[in-house]
Amino acid sequence: MTNPAIQLSDAEIDALARRIDRPVVLVGMMGVGKSTVGRKLATLLHLPFADADEAIEKAARMSVSEIFERFGEAYFRDGERRVIARLVNDRPAVIATGGGAFCQDETRTLILEKAIPIWLDCDTAALVERVGRKDTRPLLRNGDPHEIISRLKREREPFYRQAPIHILSEAGPHQHTVLRILKAIDQWL
Ligand code: S3P
Repeated sequence: MTNPAIQLSDAEIDALARRIDRPVVLVGMMGVGKSTVGRKLATLLHLPFADADEAIEKAARMSVSEIFERFGEAYFRDGERRVIARLVNDRPAVIATGGGAFCQDETRTLILEKAIPIWLDCDTAALVERVGRKDTRPLLRNGDPHEIISRLKREREPFYRQAPIHILSEAGPHQHTVLRILKAIDQWL
């Protein structure tokens, strides 16, 4: 596998995978690519992948939008905390969390204690461009996406910053981001 900046052989990736004794949890803003990057990371590490939002939808038999509409955000956050608690206590995996999860005190404490938290980050313009591709996010329904994303990013950064690993996911193939994550985990473990 090649990358202009980072190269890792399959043997090096396998050796790293053997050292990973906790779940790898991706946190960060909606639209940053946690699920896409998480899936690729899991494939390379031969670990299972779990998307917390999908697990919540499965448990509730409802979409995230429906949960917000029918029961409100507090109810969603409670379900999110329980689902993430289950996922981080399970065998090692790569887990993508919804953008607000790491900003909830209990959920963040749980992730910080039990997992390798990785803050996936990129600039506001790229986030706005990426969230525009889907219409499934309840927090973007009532207002200008650029304003909402800018505000949430500002409010949430103090929480995201508590993750021990910070990775920028700018333009370019996700594969580059994945390799940067692998290198960062290698150095951090
Ligand atoms: C949310 C982000 C969403 C989802 C829910 C709330 C947030 O997940 O959990 O709509 O508070 O930022 P993504 O980050 O996967 O879009």
